[in-house]
Amino acid sequence: MMQAKAQPKITVPKLQAMKNEKKLVMLTAYDHTMASLLDGHADILLVGDTLGCVVQGEETTLGVTLEQMSYHAAMVRQGAQCSLVVADLPFGSYQQGENGALEAAIRLIKEAKVSAVKLEGGSEVCGSIAKMTHAGIPVMAHIGLTPQSYHAMGGNKVQGKSSSSAQKLLADAKAVESAGAFALVLEAIPADLAREITEALSIPTIGIGAGSACDGQVLVINDLIGLNQSEAPMRFNKEYCAVRNLIQDAVGAFAKDVREGAFPDESYSY
Ligand code: KIV
Repeated sequence: MMQAKAQPKITVPKLQAMKNEKKLVMLTAYDHTMASLLDGHADILLVGDTLGCVVQGEETTLGVTLEQMSYHAAMVRQGAQCSLVVADLPFGSYQQGENGALEAAIRLIKEAKVSAVKLEGGSEVCGSIAKMTHAGIPVMAHIGLTPQSYHAMGGNKVQGKSSSSAQKLLADAKAVESAGAFALVLEAIPADLAREITEALSIPTIGIGAGSACDGQVLVINDLIGLNQSEAPMRFNKEYCAVRNLIQDAVGAFAKDVREGAFPDESYSY
């Protein structure tokens, strides 16, 4: 087993200093057990609103509430000694404007004790990014495929393929940086565009389906370990193992033992 070496705690300034020095590793986590396993392997643990899909079994992230985010983020925070914990602002918690965004972020910082929040969008969320940043809350931005705009985008589709949408994404990236974002997630955009954005910014970019030129990479942990069976996985999901098979084999063996009276034998009995 590859154990992560005990490492000093990652902070926002340390992450920013890693740009052009070291690739950043970000993974999602939704509970204490997984956070403890990933701590130290990942620089950042993101309590993503993919919670809605991979934990709650919904088709989209849209139903996730701030209360649910806070509950899961608190568990992840408890399990993370070194990795920086970032929590998503869920759909509906910041779309009404800057004050709502600040209130939601403060709740996550106070209740779940996370170090930073993430929100989706470009120039339209710059006011909120500035407001939270001025309040001392580090904000990670997220552009490209933004799953909270699932219906507007007509599903989870690659973005920035036309030259006008590529120009808009580049402008959005510059705008969120100017507003104060400390890092930027680029999801499902052409690799060349992600390279251009990464080179144009002084904050780190973290890609998911955005090629290798980004300053870091993120994957949803359930996809990486093959926990969920996805019928139509996005091309960027690399499955490093298939934990679901191990689980099904183990519970199948347990069920067989119980039904045949083979478990528990004397060695498991008092
Ligand atoms: O919610 C999430 O897990 C995310 C990552 C895919 C970046 O936003």
